[in-house]
Amino acid sequence: MENLKLFLLALSAAGAVGFVAIIFVLRWVLHFKEGLAWDGGAAEFNWHPVLVVTGFVFLQGIAITVYRLPWTWQCSKLMMKFIHASLHLIAFTFAVISLMAVFDFHYYSSIPDMYSLHSWLGLTVVIMYALQIVLGVGLYLIPVTPLSWRAACMPIHVYSGLFLFTSVIAVALMGITEKLIFGLSNPKYKDSPPEAIFVNVLGLLLVVFGALVLWIATRESWKRPSDQIMHSLHTNSGGEDSARDGPALSELSGGAEAETDDVRRRNKPDNQNY
Ligand code: HEM
Ligand code: HEM
Repeated sequence: MENLKLFLLALSAAGAVGFVAIIFVLRWVLHFKEGLAWDGGAAEFNWHPVLVVTGFVFLQGIAITVYRLPWTWQCSKLMMKFIHASLHLIAFTFAVISLMAVFDFHYYSSIPDMYSLHSWLGLTVVIMYALQIVLGVGLYLIPVTPLSWRAACMPIHVYSGLFLFTSVIAVALMGITEKLIFGLSNPKYKDSPPEAIFVNVLGLLLVVFGALVLWIATRESWKRPSDQIMHSLHTNSGGEDSARDGPALSELSGGAEAETDDVRRRNKPDNQNY
């Protein structure tokens, strides 16, 4: 892998920042707020941010980077697809439970549903995420889907995946801001009490985590070798683009970091590469 050290640095930074964000959201609800419970009250609402940050942001980020981990390149593409899809499914489950918590809380507290921009965008991203999973499974896990469909839809899958991930972080930031404005009364948010500063930092951590994951997922040279080959084959006529795609086929099969015969056999550009 080109620039392995930089990759490891970005990956560990993403992991550390994501982990600290989870600690922050837990400390927010356990120390500053009412704790966690499933009783229709404020403590039930608190599951909403906790599950969103842990599942919808952190696990989704991990799911997106999973193909890029060099130590998984000797595993079959099919196995990596199962891991990618399962992590997304777990992230989706967390998001759904987090919505149940907030709808339940609103029901018991007689608060209207779906009035804010946060809630409109939030529900939209959850629905779009479900659609992305269904299409992802249909296109890339069901063996009969033609290779031409898989190849044609891959750029859309990657674009919509990254767009959804970014939107989830944006929606989370809106939710955090709303909660601080609603929740802080004496002193108010504008007076910068410790809770406000603490939770603002949580927002910053989510932005940094998102930026690192997007960086990792958009470097062509950090792709799985077999995927670089497929990408090069598809863009060979594209001149400049193909020159930027990372190592050429011949470079990949030689040198110290070359794939072994076994890896090459498992990653050969067949139907499983998409
Ligand atoms: C409400 C989605 C993250 C705070 C809602 C509602 C949805 C939603 C659909 C409407 C519930 C109803 O009308 O009964 C999401 C999604 C998130 C997310 C998809 C993740 C990306 C967060 C975070 C917070 C938060 C991190 C921080 C505490 C709130 C608050 C409400 C709410 C205060 C009630 C007020 C309102 O309806 O806007 N959320 N949320 N949300 N959410 Fe989130
Ligand atoms: C690649 C997002 C669900 C199969 C990707 C990438 C993203 C992404 C951002 C690019 C990763 C990279 O370039 O390293 C998502 C999201 C999903 C989802 C947000 C759920 C909401 C699925 C499912 C499958 C799937 C259910 C079924 C197996 C793939 C495949 C790739 C891919 C085969 C190609 C990896 C590569 O060759 O570079 N996905 N995905 N995805 N995804 Fe998904």
